[in-house]
Amino acid sequence: MKPRHIIIAALSLIAFAACKQSGKSTAEAGKDTANVVNADSAYNEQYRLQAHWSPKAKWTNDPNGLILHNGTYHLFYQHYPDSTVWGPMHWGHATSKDLVTWKQQPIALYPDSLGYIFSGSIVADEKNTSGLGEGGKTPLVAIFTHHDPKGEKSGSSTYQNQSIAYSLDEGQTWTKYANNPVLKNPGIKDFRDPKVFWYAPQNKWLMSLATKDRITFYSSANLKNWKKESEFGEKLGGHGGVWECPDLISLKLNGKQYWVLLVSINPGGPNGGSATQYFVGNFDGNKFTPLDSQTRWIDYGPDDYAGVTFGGTGDRKIFLGWMGNWLYANQVPTKNWRNAMTIPRELSLLSNKGRVFLASTPVKELGNLAMQTEKVDGNQLTPGADVFQVIKQSPAQFTLHFTTPQLRDYKLVLANDAGEELVIGYDAAKTRYYIDRSKAGDNSFSKQFAGVAYAPRISSALNSDLKLVVDASSIELFADGGLSNLTSVFFPKAPYTHLKVEAKDMKVENMEVSPLKSIWK
Ligand code: FRU
Repeated sequence: MKPRHIIIAALSLIAFAACKQSGKSTAEAGKDTANVVNADSAYNEQYRLQAHWSPKAKWTNDPNGLILHNGTYHLFYQHYPDSTVWGPMHWGHATSKDLVTWKQQPIALYPDSLGYIFSGSIVADEKNTSGLGEGGKTPLVAIFTHHDPKGEKSGSSTYQNQSIAYSLDEGQTWTKYANNPVLKNPGIKDFRDPKVFWYAPQNKWLMSLATKDRITFYSSANLKNWKKESEFGEKLGGHGGVWECPDLISLKLNGKQYWVLLVSINPGGPNGGSATQYFVGNFDGNKFTPLDSQTRWIDYGPDDYAGVTFGGTGDRKIFLGWMGNWLYANQVPTKNWRNAMTIPRELSLLSNKGRVFLASTPVKELGNLAMQTEKVDGNQLTPGADVFQVIKQSPAQFTLHFTTPQLRDYKLVLANDAGEELVIGYDAAKTRYYIDRSKAGDNSFSKQFAGVAYAPRISSALNSDLKLVVDASSIELFADGGLSNLTSVFFPKAPYTHLKVEAKDMKVENMEVSPLKSIWK
């Protein structure tokens, strides 16, 4: 049992007991509480992100069931509609036409007699291999983990099993398959987070499943009967914690196909707690073989976890992460809602010193939110110059992008008049980027929150570029075309209203700053 499960188990039991007494199911009670927050004020709360998706009310962690289907992006998410702390997991649901503006949808999956609905994925079963389609309609099939809290409490080791549910109305309503679970636990406590895709060369479904300290691959002809193919990673990568939320994707570099396996790990991340590592290699329908034994991280920051990619996007691979860390996700000081997703990121491969790396950059659709783009002349960045003047809104959400012909030490300081500051920079002597949130605002809620997060520089080019996505309480840094990334949340007393760039020995050129519209207005 994870420590957070122990803390939360008691709360969940109380919630269940309370619902029992009121004669309502937890699900119904959840719907009630989600509606309590007034639509207009829901998205105006202090710290509420304006350019990122977050739940209208209550708790979220992992993104689930990401899929582009018939022109709509679906985001399902781990959700507890009764509270702002983790509890009996449901799948919440939101949809988008453009990856940046989202519409809240009714809860998709509720806990049942087999347990809570933990993380998983959704596929469009075009060939109706499952037989769950009707009248020529393609079923959307959700493959998820049923987590049985009673089994967990009684000391059983088989309380996590894989189940399916299907929808014939674009994900609006779901029917659970009558013979769940479809993949039974062989006796591994941590046995969860199925991510499924169609492996066309062998006409079969392929599932990556987190099985404690490794990933196990399964295949199926019909999404109902699963056969074990192979295991990966027992002796590779980070092992400071349990492996979770895998995703196996294929990407091309210079015309050559590679396979990339994403694996979240908690704890054991490079800056403490939760983080997502990846492996680049080959996959033959049975086995994943990495190109080398180096551990790489998709994002070194403390607040990008459990990220996976959307299905249905063809060669374009779009990644979405949970902007949280299990070290303090249950304590961050938001009121009616807790935690959010990262900006969707486009993944690509880049080669550096003969090795292949995964690069992430904000999706181009984020540009649709730009109100205008201001160019800041590098020569104007004299000591003390305040770039924030071009943003003209507070609290501010904006993107910033600059290039430099020769990378040296620099610092960007976001500050408010209360003396709080968030410092973003590059340390040339140690060849690493950093985000220092030690004085960025409230950090009283967890001893493990304040501090500096570092990302080693991977690129060896002389020149460099930096992209930032800044929102009311989050920052995402993408350096060198997205090779070295850092995501961090922060909670200032008052919104930041100053942005100073300190780059004494370095020329900043092509700086562009774009204030972003709120996605909720
Ligand atoms: C990752 C995770 C998953 C699990 C879910 C439960 O953050 O622990 O492994 O399915 O969260 O909410």
